[in-house]
Amino acid sequence: MRSIDLRSDTVTQPSPEMRAAMAAAEVGDDVLEQDPTLARLETRVADLLGMEAALWVPSGCMGNLIALMLHVKRGDRFLAPAQAHVLGSELGTGAWLAGGMPEPLPWEGGPGRPTAAQVAAAAGSPGPYYTLRTTLLCLENTHNFAGGAVTPLSEHRALVGAAKAAKLAVHLDGARLWHAAEAQGLAPAALTEGVDTVQVCLSKGLGAPMGSLLAGSKPAVAEARRLRKMLGGGVRQGGVMGAAGLVALDYLPRLSEDHAKTRRLAEGLRNMGVQAPAPETNILLVSVPDAGAALRALESVGVRVLPVGAAIRFIAHRDLSVADIEESLLRMESVAHLLRSA
Ligand SMILES: Cc1ncc(COP(=O)(O)O)c(C=O)c1O
Repeated sequence: MRSIDLRSDTVTQPSPEMRAAMAAAEVGDDVLEQDPTLARLETRVADLLGMEAALWVPSGCMGNLIALMLHVKRGDRFLAPAQAHVLGSELGTGAWLAGGMPEPLPWEGGPGRPTAAQVAAAAGSPGPYYTLRTTLLCLENTHNFAGGAVTPLSEHRALVGAAKAAKLAVHLDGARLWHAAEAQGLAPAALTEGVDTVQVCLSKGLGAPMGSLLAGSKPAVAEARRLRKMLGGGVRQGGVMGAAGLVALDYLPRLSEDHAKTRRLAEGLRNMGVQAPAPETNILLVSVPDAGAALRALESVGVRVLPVGAAIRFIAHRDLSVADIEESLLRMESVAHLLRSA
C-alpha cells in the first residue's frame, strides 16, 4: 500500500522542473565571489521580505543560529514564545553556540504568541552592571508547535513595538512566514515590519531540497556571511541549490491550496467525531489519548504523521493531491476511535 505522508511539509520531492533548473544553473564559487544564481535568489528574497539584503544558508537552524550570534553577546538573555523552534528544537545552539540565556514566554496573546505587555515585563529596564541583560526578542510566525498558528499583523506590530521600546533587537523565525502571509492575504514584507533579521525556509512547503535565507540590513548580512563561513555553511557552486530555491518561490501563489487541504483534513476528522481544531495554515495538531497507539494505527493503514507531545501532527503539502487527502480520510475511518479524545 502506498503511504500518504502527512508528517511534514519537508518530505516533498524536487519537481522535474526544479531538477531541470538545478542541472542548468549558472554557477560560480560563492566563497571566493558570489555565485550568480545564489545572488539572484538572495536579491529576490530580500525584495519579497522588504529587507535590504539576504544570505542563503543551508538550513533554517543555521539561519536562526547566525541571527542569534549577531544579536546576543555571551550571557545575554533572549526572549521567545514558549515551544519556539529556537528554544526546544535546535539542540540548544542558542545557548551553546550563541551564548544566550533563553527565556520562554507563555502564550498569553494567543496560540504561539506572548502579549506586548509580557515582552515589556520580561525585558525589564537596564539595571546596574551586575544584572542580567536582555537583548533580543525572537518571534516565530507561523508557530510550528502551536499548530501553524499565525501572529496577526496588529499583534506583530505591538510585539515589535514593545521590544523596540525596551531596546531589544528582534529576530523573526519565519520558516513558514509565507504561510502566515498567505493566511492573512498579506505580502510577506508586511510581516517583517520592524524586525532586524528574518529567517525564511525554501524547504518547508515550497519543495526545495534544502536552503533558507537570513535577511536584514546590509551590514548585518555582511557579518552573517562571516558567521556562515565559521559554521561551515559557506558553499562553493551553491547556485545548484539557488536554482531550486528560485523555482520553489514560484509555488508561493499556490500555498492557499495546501491550507485548503489541511482544512479539509480537519473537517473530515471532525465528521468522524475527532476533536480537530480549525487549522490556520498547513499544520493540524490533534490531541489524542495515546500518541504512540494512534501513530501505530495510522501507520497500519498507510497514513504517516508525527507525534508532537500528546498530539499528532498532520501537514498537507504540495506533493499530496486533494484526492490523497480524501483517501487518507477514508483510511482513517477504521482507526478513528484511537484519535477521539476520552
Ligand atoms: C519554525 C521552524 N524554524 C526553524 C526550523 C529549522 O529548519 P531546518 O530544518 O531547515 O533547519 C524549522 C524546521 O522545521 C521550523 O519549523
